[in-house]
Amino acid sequence: MARIAGKRLCRVGIVSLILGSAALWAPVVGYGDVAKPNIPAARGEQCVEPVEIMRRDHFDFMKHDRDKTVHDGVRTIKHSLAGCIDCHATKNASGQFVPINAEGEFCQTCHTYAAVKIDCFTCHAAVPATKVSQSP
Ligand code: HEC
Ligand code: HEC
Ligand code: HEC
Repeated sequence: MARIAGKRLCRVGIVSLILGSAALWAPVVGYGDVAKPNIPAARGEQCVEPVEIMRRDHFDFMKHDRDKTVHDGVRTIKHSLAGCIDCHATKNASGQFVPINAEGEFCQTCHTYAAVKIDCFTCHAAVPATKVSQSP
């Protein structure tokens, strides 16, 4: 298994460190004092791609499909950002969706860990679109 040797503290190194093996996600397995991201569980049967591939390539998929939508008008894309949020957003104790980019939530846990910053949610909603009315 390609573990990090510790000499290249570059982003690629950090990424392969955290993406290297499913076992590394388990809090009991680890690199001494390095805390692992604790990723909230998803809804739905399975992701839009195999999980190992999603861990590594999710941003390329989304950027590719964004271009298909924004430039070519294709709406039937497989890697929709709205779709990610539908399955990966969690609810708080009072049943309200928590923004997916909030600390501890799905997109943010890994990104904090990997020091990745994304601007997607300045435009995109960070909670699932709910079609129900607000009235009680
Ligand atoms: C400046 C505003 C803006 C920012 C920032 C932005 N987007 Fe978008 N994005 C849009 C608009 C406008 C559309 C087209 C509207 C639509 O189809 O919902 C779109 C559509 C998309 C789509 C296709 C529609 C869907 O539901 O998925 C994807 C995928 C997407 N964006 C991903 C991203 C990602 C990933 C980021 C961050 C890296 C990002 N966007 C940042 C404005 C933005
Ligand atoms: C139909 C529901 C669904 C959609 C849509 C979806 N996912 Fe997933 N995703 C899952 C499930 C189920 C898993 C398996 C892990 C789990 O149970 O939490 C998963 C796993 C992942 C993982 C690996 C998490 C880990 O534990 O390391 C990543 C990264 C991921 N998804 C990103 C995305 C992104 C980005 C999108 C949008 C392009 C997306 N997913 C869309 C259901 C979904
Ligand atoms: C399993 C951990 C993990 C999860 C969960 C995750 N990401 Fe990422 N993401 C990463 C890593 C690591 C990188 C940096 C990869 C690199 O730079 O090569 C990254 C990079 C990105 C980038 C590219 C940033 C850039 O600088 O171009 C986007 C966009 C992105 N993620 C969007 C999302 C969105 C949206 C979600 C939630 C739906 C999400 N990610 C969930 C680990 C994750």
